[in-house]
Amino acid sequence: MKTTLFRTTLIAAAAAVLSTAAFAQAGGKLKVGLMLPYTGTFAALGNAIENGFKLYLAEQGGKIAGREVEFIKVDDESDPSKATDNVNKLVKRDNVDVLVGTVHSGVAMAMAKVAKESGTLLIVPNAGADAVTGAMCAPNIFRSSFSNWQPGYAMGEVMAKKGIKRVATITWKYAAGDESVRGFKEAFEKGGGTVVKELNLPFPNVEFQALLTDIAATKPDAVFTFFAGGGAVKFVKDYAAAGLKKTIPLYGSGFLTDGTLEAQGADAEGLFTALHYADSLDTPKDKSFRLAYAKAYKLQPDVYAVQGYDAAQILGIGLKAVNGDVSKKAEFARAVEAAKIDSPRGAFSLSKAHNPVQDIYLRQVNGKENKLVGIASKSLTDPARGCKM
Ligand code: BEZ
Repeated sequence: MKTTLFRTTLIAAAAAVLSTAAFAQAGGKLKVGLMLPYTGTFAALGNAIENGFKLYLAEQGGKIAGREVEFIKVDDESDPSKATDNVNKLVKRDNVDVLVGTVHSGVAMAMAKVAKESGTLLIVPNAGADAVTGAMCAPNIFRSSFSNWQPGYAMGEVMAKKGIKRVATITWKYAAGDESVRGFKEAFEKGGGTVVKELNLPFPNVEFQALLTDIAATKPDAVFTFFAGGGAVKFVKDYAAAGLKKTIPLYGSGFLTDGTLEAQGADAEGLFTALHYADSLDTPKDKSFRLAYAKAYKLQPDVYAVQGYDAAQILGIGLKAVNGDVSKKAEFARAVEAAKIDSPRGAFSLSKAHNPVQDIYLRQVNGKENKLVGIASKSLTDPARGCKM
């Protein structure tokens, strides 16, 4: 009898200590490691992602699941050679609860490797590296953006349906460029087209002249391209300056003209691109998002801002389900997997591999906007090749 009483008291005491520890953990500041490019060709993309993330946080009164947020920021410079060191500092030195990043596919793959090995939560707010939700997929890795395959594949379908037959491609030689072109080629060739030339240059090089001369000599029916950020601005301007815009229609995944129109001016007018966002969706959620973003930052939002906002939404959904306790990874994942995320792009859910299943829009540049033309590919799901989860 005495022993039972003693044991019960001990168990109660242990439970109290445990729940105090859990409360301390769940109740303290949530450390978010923001690893984004703040310099270089993708700097504007990193800033827009951070703005979007912070807009959601502000809407929640500055807290996620009752926890204040402390940001630890790293400029990853879109440099894969520095990525492993950068992410290890956030995980091992700063002990972040969650990693949010990044823009560049090569840097994101280094983040995914560390996240997978350490079990740290990772939410990718842009980088489309197919492997992140393919061969490297993991229960603690989520993406709020797209896979490189998705916009490329959708544009391949559109161009094949238009009856375009011979296409040259041009992009940076790294995962995002290679995988966008691969997605494009898969759909375009399935639809009866042929890729007659694949041109590329190293990231983030912008010396396009020799390649533009090659396009002029090849005379394809059209060109498909992936460029983004500062590189996309220069490419669109150089393409027009070379006189190619009038003779060989230019198409791209939507990064070509997103967040870039101010700088591209008339050289971008009329271009068709495919992406999971457009400037004129006209839904209540998008309208309120755009209004709030413009008010907060005196800027128009772009796809990167939307992805940052949705990365914060994913964190919010998961964290609320576990009462702010990031150690409950399986419950966190279950909540996110079951959720419909109320995005400005339109509601979406995550695939089994944790990549958005989403509509890819066909857009056309009209003044300073990527205007909605229609849906290029409905509820497009990345094939998640190599994902075992
Ligand atoms: C990427 O590296 O995955 C990427 C960079 C900018 C825009 C889109 C994708």
